Amino acid sequence: KDPRLEKIEAIRQKAMLGGGEKRIQVQHKKGKLTARERLSVLLDPGSFLESGTFVEHRCRDFGMDKTSFSGDGVITGSGLIAGRPVFVYSQDFTVYGGSLSESHAAKICRLMDRAMKAGAPIIGLNDSGGARIQEGVMSLAGYTEVFQRNVDASGVVPQISCILGPCAGGAVYSPALTDFVFMVRNSSYMFLTGPDVVKSVTMEEVTQEELGGAEVHTTRSGVAQGAWDNELELLSAVRELVTYLPLNNRDKPPLYPSSDPDDRPCPTLDRIIPENAEVPYDMRDVLAEVVDDRYVFEMIPDFARNVISGFARLGGETVGVIANNPLVLAGVLDIDAAIKASRFIRFCDSFNIPLITFVDVPGFLPGTQQEHAGVIRHGAKLLYAYAEATVPKLAVITRKAYGGAYCVMSSQHLRGDVNLAWPSAEVAVMGSKGAIEVIFKGHSKESMDKEVAAYEEKFYTPLSAARHGFLDDVIAPRDTRARLIRELRLLKHKSVSRPWKKHGNIPL
Ligand code: COA
Repeated sequence: KDPRLEKIEAIRQKAMLGGGEKRIQVQHKKGKLTARERLSVLLDPGSFLESGTFVEHRCRDFGMDKTSFSGDGVITGSGLIAGRPVFVYSQDFTVYGGSLSESHAAKICRLMDRAMKAGAPIIGLNDSGGARIQEGVMSLAGYTEVFQRNVDASGVVPQISCILGPCAGGAVYSPALTDFVFMVRNSSYMFLTGPDVVKSVTMEEVTQEELGGAEVHTTRSGVAQGAWDNELELLSAVRELVTYLPLNNRDKPPLYPSSDPDDRPCPTLDRIIPENAEVPYDMRDVLAEVVDDRYVFEMIPDFARNVISGFARLGGETVGVIANNPLVLAGVLDIDAAIKASRFIRFCDSFNIPLITFVDVPGFLPGTQQEHAGVIRHGAKLLYAYAEATVPKLAVITRKAYGGAYCVMSSQHLRGDVNLAWPSAEVAVMGSKGAIEVIFKGHSKESMDKEVAAYEEKFYTPLSAARHGFLDDVIAPRDTRARLIRELRLLKHKSVSRPWKKHGNIPL
């Protein structure tokens, strides 16, 4: 054997152990996998191709000249998920706490550049003590080079961040710029300033988990799109997510034909809308009936639960589903719901994923809290996202479509391609009582009741909108699946040209 190669192989073998057995044990004791174990769970067996194994840091200060680890705390390379390519970096907490040095950042940047050229998703497995303290501004420069690439890659290749340990300070902004952030409960956290700084500045006592754990970010802040109980579940969710996505913005999502018949009728939908319009129902039950194999992979399900967003398949094709959920706050739109849905819509539009919208919305949430927090500005995001999207846009109004919320939710006026309604649909400016109180203010209760009945007869039906051509058809709920699949196929080659612009100015 070539002794030169043997020497190199010995270095490689040592690199496989990262910061050494002892630190690996500490990692395992915390219930965490090592950076390499994570890659072996994430990628198809044997598919990982590593690059940059021999990279070392260049710091000579604070005794750093005496220690070095090949790879410098991050493993980079490419691999396959369900046979399709992805580029991955995995931070190794056993090497300087996975902290980001100049060389560590350069490896991530190189990986991102390669992924952009190859047109394949970038997946980051984050587990890091932040900027390599010994390197000062070099590591800050490194972070910023990564941020720039996150922005350059946005809308070009899907970017997925997994938070599998600490992620604090500047480190949070790379994940924040990516499309999806997944976290593990009780072993990962994200915050700009940790509990100690929080205490010294605001006197608040808070734990890491309370400040920036998975629960907080998937229920209150909306920073992350998914929380899992352990790393294995999270990594398998990433594999699943990738199966819905195209490799890049010029690619189409992969087809996954299922045994669920395209023309399967959904008779239970005929009875799903309660007699009394005040009674809620769970829109998830509607979605389950309609999509392939009754399955929606929801994004950020426990944040803004009044709207549902997620990936599903219809006739084997990936679709992005957005739906008001009357079970929560009567399905009203508020700031969080608008932000959640619009970000999801923009992702789908960037990556050629058709949008299927289910509408049952009584309007926007009134009140000073919402108005003062800028519901106008945030609600406008949703309007903007639907109007801007050029992917196929299909919508079904199941019950209420009132006021501004009618306009927003994928209406024909925002260039919806297919706008359907069930016979239970109500397309109106507002609910009947409120409407009549405005237009017949001061009239007797008796005459008001009569007007309410007249209003309901006129607008609590899809016919008024259908007569104007604002609905393409009124269908029996049981036919929803079959109809959507047929319409979706017709839109396969949809093409829209837009006026040239550098980029729009979505209200932020
Ligand atoms: N730069 C350089 N080395 C770092 C580091 C950093 N930012 N963060 C952690 N390390 C090193 C530690 O020195 C330690 O090295 P060792 O194995 O040779 O002893 C190793 O990583 C593990 O760190 P440790 O503190 O023992 O792990 P922990 O699990 O107890 O705590 C943190 C993890 C992240 C909370 C803690 O390491 C920390 O506070 N790091 C600094 C965070 C920070 O302020 N970053 C800079 C600004 S973004």
